[in-house]
Amino acid sequence: MTSQGEPTYQVTYKDKEVIKSSKLGISLKDGVSLTKNFAIENSEISTFDENWTPVLGEESSIRNHYNQMIFHLKQNATNKKLDIVFKVYDEGVAFRYEFPMEKSVNYFVISDENTEFKLTGDHNTFWLPGDYDSQEYNYNETKISEIDISKINRENGIALQTVENNFRVQSPLMMKSADGLYINIFEAAVINYPVMHLDVDTKSFGLTSNLVPNATGDKAYLRTPSTTPWRTIMISDDARDIVGSKMILNLNEPSKIEDTSWIKPMKYVGIWWEMHVGKSTWDYAGSQNAQNAGTGNMIPTGKHGATTENTKYYIDFAAKHGFEGVLVEGWNVGWEDWFGNWKEDVFDFTTPYSDFDIAEVNKYAKSKGVKMIMHHETSGSVGNYERHLDRAMDLMKKYDYPAVKSGYVGRIIPRGEFHDGQAMVNHFNFVAQRMAANKLMVNSHESSRPTGYSRTYPNYIAAEAARGNEFNAWSNGNLPYHETILPFTRLLGGPMDYTPGIFEIKMNVYDPAKTNQVHTTLAKQLALYVTMYSPLQMAADLPENYEKYLDAFQFIKDVPVDWQTSKYLEAEPGDYLTVVRNDKNSESWFLGAITDENPRNTEITLDFLSPNKKYKAIIYQDGKDAHWEKNPKSYNIKTETVTNKTKMKLMLAAGGGTAVSFMPIK
Ligand code: NOJ
Ligand code: CA
Repeated sequence: MTSQGEPTYQVTYKDKEVIKSSKLGISLKDGVSLTKNFAIENSEISTFDENWTPVLGEESSIRNHYNQMIFHLKQNATNKKLDIVFKVYDEGVAFRYEFPMEKSVNYFVISDENTEFKLTGDHNTFWLPGDYDSQEYNYNETKISEIDISKINRENGIALQTVENNFRVQSPLMMKSADGLYINIFEAAVINYPVMHLDVDTKSFGLTSNLVPNATGDKAYLRTPSTTPWRTIMISDDARDIVGSKMILNLNEPSKIEDTSWIKPMKYVGIWWEMHVGKSTWDYAGSQNAQNAGTGNMIPTGKHGATTENTKYYIDFAAKHGFEGVLVEGWNVGWEDWFGNWKEDVFDFTTPYSDFDIAEVNKYAKSKGVKMIMHHETSGSVGNYERHLDRAMDLMKKYDYPAVKSGYVGRIIPRGEFHDGQAMVNHFNFVAQRMAANKLMVNSHESSRPTGYSRTYPNYIAAEAARGNEFNAWSNGNLPYHETILPFTRLLGGPMDYTPGIFEIKMNVYDPAKTNQVHTTLAKQLALYVTMYSPLQMAADLPENYEKYLDAFQFIKDVPVDWQTSKYLEAEPGDYLTVVRNDKNSESWFLGAITDENPRNTEITLDFLSPNKKYKAIIYQDGKDAHWEKNPKSYNIKTETVTNKTKMKLMLAAGGGTAVSFMPIK
């Protein structure tokens, strides 16, 4: 507490200061703000330790262990109350504001949150611009003092960008201090509150919360009793503690879904990449590419992807290779001018194009033991989506679709709202709840980034909410170090539908004029199934491309998506990651190792395997001459017999990776 009665906090790690004395407080639109003139009335200390069982996850059991301290504050003169609650974990600290039930305060409006994070030095950071509508950027790696959005290239394929301040970044913000501390600032349980971005003071290395406004310019409409999301600061001298942390999930409420038996992990294929590479189109007329919205013309050109016949081809492929699901985009009327016009009635989510026989497709899928995945592109027209949601879900249930992929490309309607504002946060959470009530799973694209809500609604099975593999198809793409950063940032909040598994790396196979490419080797695309945790994973490339490389495809067929345990063996944000995971339903283990633009040699001990057992290891690695740009498809596969004493050398090419399956020998 300062002499003005302003609440402050500071954080030390192993006797080192990490957060200098930083202020806490909330500004209100009306009346006296909750920023100063406070006294501590009393405080409470407690300890919590439990294990819980996620429905799907990287671990079959998660420990939630922390010490808690609640400070009950009272404002002089107004007598207003504010509680600030701290939870201290091994790998970090979390705190939030709580607004107790009060007679004098009922409804209130937050005009600003004044949470400071004053850092102790000019740390190295991995940052994304503080854009209110998109996280689909490449990471910038600079010192705090060098953060400046005006200096970066924003010709990056992101159609809608809302950047109002050149010194604002998104969280999670991953940092490393000069003396080797890993620091991550994020938030958990963002519910009925806007997303927090961070304003950067590049001179003093201070960060201040910036809440995304509503259409009115206000930040949050609340009523007592209520709470803010948790503000989290993870700290360790070992990067593996951060990438493996379950703190964000732990800070969310337990599952509100009682019967979770219908929530199932899934690998899927789909009519999807072929639109992104320009082979076919979403719209019936066939006038689109991945970055235009078509001509509005309804004369078919024969390039429509979502036809009954093409869907059957994917269903056959899924059935043959053991995939549970098939996604079909562009099945419904509305794609003729689906974005760019801020148009309200875009899709009704129930009317198929005339060449997509929904009954026939679903009958055929059922006969092959495959589930169809629904697609709802809202184009940001959210009021329209909510109006149609019940009928859209009825259609899904009628035809037995267990899951939907949703999308939010474009400016939001209600007009004036941003993707990251309170109203949209409420929308994304509302859809998860409504889908849960109907026993349906959801995977949202272009939503605000998850903050652990999948613990509470485990049917919120995945989200995109970062720059996915698709950008490699039609933009300048993802930098080779991209996938080494995501596990330290985006993935802390929940699974990502990254859509890995692209084998035809260079887009000139579709059109000699194209220079776009995936910025990895083929072997790294395999490793991503292990390094990028998600219970929903796509094999994103075209069936005919997989047919050409069936030996490498075997890894995608074998790799599970739900795990007993996971161990991060090696980790350095922006450089490399090596993780091993034990299948939830067998004794098999799987390894994924990836590197950035630099080649990497390493040796690991297989001591995670059970003792006194032999395993057949199938190693999918970069060829000696592999290179993400010069020779991305060079790979080789070898089989070895190993035990938990074996030391294994991994050789990763520039932009490369290694994937290994370990199956016990009976
Ligand atoms: C963006 C999504 O991320 C992508 O996967 C989808 O194909 C398009 N929107 C169209 O809905
Ligand atoms: Ca996207």
